[in-house]
Amino acid sequence: MIEVRELVKEYNTKKGKVIGVDNVSLTIQKGEIYGIVGYSGAGKSSLIRCLNLLEKPTTGRVLIDGIDLTTLNNKELRQARLKVGMIFQHFHLISSKTVFENVAFALKAASKSKHEISHRVDELLEMVGLSDKKEVFPSQLSGGQKQRVGIARALANEPSVLLCDEATSALDPSTTKSILTLLKKINHELGLTIVLITHEMEVVKEICDRLAVMQDGRVVEEGPVYDIFADPTQPLTKSFINTVLQFDLPEHLINNRKGTIIKIHFKGEIAEESVVSDVLQQYKVKGNILHGKIEYIKEKPLGIFMMEVSGDEEEVQKAIEYIKRRTQQLEVIQYVN
Ligand SMILES: Nc1ncnc2c1ncn2[C@@H]1O[C@H](COP(=O)(O)OP(=O)(O)OP(=O)(O)O)[C@@H](O)[C@H]1O
Ligand SMILES: [Mg+2]
Repeated sequence: MIEVRELVKEYNTKKGKVIGVDNVSLTIQKGEIYGIVGYSGAGKSSLIRCLNLLEKPTTGRVLIDGIDLTTLNNKELRQARLKVGMIFQHFHLISSKTVFENVAFALKAASKSKHEISHRVDELLEMVGLSDKKEVFPSQLSGGQKQRVGIARALANEPSVLLCDEATSALDPSTTKSILTLLKKINHELGLTIVLITHEMEVVKEICDRLAVMQDGRVVEEGPVYDIFADPTQPLTKSFINTVLQFDLPEHLINNRKGTIIKIHFKGEIAEESVVSDVLQQYKVKGNILHGKIEYIKEKPLGIFMMEVSGDEEEVQKAIEYIKRRTQQLEVIQYVN
């Protein structure tokens, strides 16, 4: 478990103090995949780098499995850091060393014997699917393969936490998917806690259990990914979610309609019920679906529909009330008079 308590990170620059992290408190459970999103400069890297004390927090505490890293001396900190692996956007491999040597490097730092190192590197390369690239140099690898080496190196000393700073941002969508699949596998098989910074909500949707949204050094929204997608409260969160779930209709389509236009959110089980056909059977109204989408987030459905309802005014009202009762979330985009 990772506990961040009232963490502040300030940088002293020539132009004065710059705030990287502004009083953040978070709890990340063991075995969780925890996403952090935010625009450039929000403080994501500053925060994640404080989790292994790559950056020293100005004030506040960081506890990993109950140990407060901010109180450790240098030797204890080196030991504690072995339990926190990290991967980066641009991989940070040593270009003059082979794949084997890059991974072995992390084990040498932990004073492992030659035999142990050789055995462990083989095991790690097998885990990330690169057994055949052992003697190859980084320049001969694709981006996805380089990140697999980064992952093998990060896992070398059997960490309990893996920190990922934009680990898929330099990769194309299909390579991103394969790296996310690998991260999920590692999380599942090794019970590893993963903290993942990204600016892509697709990545969050695909893999994260919980999410924190950062702005100006602060966490402005935090919670289970499904809940945040279903009910975002902050404008910033909404704008991130819109990148995946874009539901707004072009204005000309709305303006040319004769009926009342409603937007319905279906959350949880209700997304799999026949609310729309039920309403059309029970009331004398016509329903015309203008737009619809069901996304599956952590295998739970989240549906959004835009529908034009027309007919006798009283019946339309009743139909709308009925849908509202069943779905809880209904927004009238345009009334007919
Ligand atoms: N080493 C540093 N020295 C001075 N200021 C820094 C340093 N690192 C980060 N900052 C500042 O701290 C703030 C947060 O930066 P940070 O790199 O944590 O943001 P980020 O969310 O990771 O952004 P990006 O998405 O661009 O990577 C910014 O204002 C940045 O300029
Ligand atoms: Mg960053």
